[in-house]
Amino acid sequence: MKTRAAVMYEHNQPVVVEELELVEPKANEVLVRTAASGVCHSDLSVVTGAIYYDAAVILGHEGAGVIEQVGEGVTDFQVGDHVILSFVSYCGNCRMCEMEKVCLCESYDVPRGFLLDGTYRFYNSSGDGILQMARVATMSEYMVVPEQNLVKIDQHYSLEQAALVGCGVTTGVGAVLNTAKVEPGSSVAVIGTGGVGLNAIQGAVLADAEQIIAVDIAEKKLDFAKTFGATDVVNAAEIDAVEGVREITKGLGVDYAFEVIGNPDTIRQAYQMVRPAGTAVIVGMVHHEKEFSIPAQHFVSSERRIIGSFYGSCQPRVDMPKLLSLYTEGKLKLDELITRHYRLEQINDAFADMEAGENARGVIIFN
Ligand code: APR
Ligand code: ZN
Ligand code: ZN
Repeated sequence: MKTRAAVMYEHNQPVVVEELELVEPKANEVLVRTAASGVCHSDLSVVTGAIYYDAAVILGHEGAGVIEQVGEGVTDFQVGDHVILSFVSYCGNCRMCEMEKVCLCESYDVPRGFLLDGTYRFYNSSGDGILQMARVATMSEYMVVPEQNLVKIDQHYSLEQAALVGCGVTTGVGAVLNTAKVEPGSSVAVIGTGGVGLNAIQGAVLADAEQIIAVDIAEKKLDFAKTFGATDVVNAAEIDAVEGVREITKGLGVDYAFEVIGNPDTIRQAYQMVRPAGTAVIVGMVHHEKEFSIPAQHFVSSERRIIGSFYGSCQPRVDMPKLLSLYTEGKLKLDELITRHYRLEQINDAFADMEAGENARGVIIFN
């Protein structure tokens, strides 16, 4: 069948929207008609090469849609089911899966962007195979994905709001609730209050944190942060982020700092702004060739902790429906995350707006 998709053919060049050929789902795969795809910084990171994929690859890993066809052996899903796309495939049987760390499942040794049997599903007009970001490719009208990457949801949810749960919401809220397990009454700083960071703020609200300090360099993002529950803000374009947070916490520093940008400098800031024995949580995806450094002796003598958080340490099929329930109960904001809609053809504008700090989240809407 034919589908239109946003394809990265060359790093740091405009993304190409074109018609591709999509083959039928194989065993344990499903054909999904995409309803909405969020535009996440990780998509842009694929374009820049910070998150490395060989070209060419279809972008998009935050989406929701409707099942159109199921492959052989698929029993948990039916045509017509509404689903969120999860960007990890997990086996359910390995040691990491048994430890409920399903996002760290290690049983699939497949090169990035291929489906689980190591082959393509998408081809361009020259007959070249096209990879799928995160094995999903939500920036395509249709996609064939492993059934492991699907989370079934109730049909009354808007697929547009549900799409955001596929990455930003789960990553941000999960970092606070699942990875860090922030205790009630805690003080929390979130550095970078974009689509993911705003959800870390929502996570801190859900955790009953007492003080929630938003740190960003864009005033507009700090305004968003207040809407989502930040009690204090630090504009790091105007004052030093670490000093700003220290001042607000009367010199002590916060119990938890979340870095939600993916920058070695702000990771260091996160480390510096936690109190002794506090925890810095790294959520942002740093360029794959970069490292961060911290003063090693101080690390020991201050008993600070630094932990990574991938996909909010989530169990997609457990956590994503729960997050949607919280939305229904009015405890989680999803509508407010969506600041602008785009057509697929406007993907390069969406990235430009992201770099200009215009949106909480931009969302591509399909027909
Ligand atoms: N200090 C403070 N804030 C900064 C800085 C800085 N030095 N540099 C950038 N920011 C802010 C931006 O102003 C923006 O509000 O970080 C925010 C990043 O938000 P988005 O661009 O919306 O990115 P998002 O989709 O939230 O992703 C953030 O999480 O999943 C990962 O790969 C993703 O690493 C990325 C991170
Ligand atoms: Zn993402
Ligand atoms: Zn596994």
